[in-house]
Amino acid sequence: MADTHQGDTRRDFLYVATTAVGAVGAACVAWPFIDQMNPAADVLALASIEFDTSTVAEGMAVTVKWRGKPVFVRHRTPAEIEEARAVPLSELRDPQADGARALKPEQLIVVGVCTHLGCVPLGQKPSDPRGDYGGWFCPCHGSHYDTSGRIRKGPAPLNLPVPEYQYISDSVVRIG
Ligand code: FES
Repeated sequence: MADTHQGDTRRDFLYVATTAVGAVGAACVAWPFIDQMNPAADVLALASIEFDTSTVAEGMAVTVKWRGKPVFVRHRTPAEIEEARAVPLSELRDPQADGARALKPEQLIVVGVCTHLGCVPLGQKPSDPRGDYGGWFCPCHGSHYDTSGRIRKGPAPLNLPVPEYQYISDSVVRIG
């Protein structure tokens, strides 16, 4: 039963997404003539999401869906933050300071799509392998990401991307 239900939800999502894309296309074509019209509410809903990071306990992670992609929200421990900060940029394949990747050090928010060929890396569940650098491990071809989501080993060329986001309260972020 559960599978059937999930299948239905997935179909519903695809249907909504397809409709929204159609609506965007139509809006663009019609824009010069009906510029007083606003984008449909469902288009805006897909463009950004809000998430309360206080629901994620320290050391845990949650995956949220944004524009059809998984976004990893990890509440990092002080040790994980320290580990990420201690790495010299010269050791990184895609050099980026940890401070430039997280608005609040304890909350790391990255798009959970491996930059090699697009698998979803493991490391969100406590029982998952997190690779040699304690972040995420992509089992497809063996890419290891660190506690800042930066690529450290394996074929992936780039860090897990940080989506555009902002805090709209102490703990709630708007992604997108
Ligand atoms: Fe992740 Fe190939 S897709 S290592």
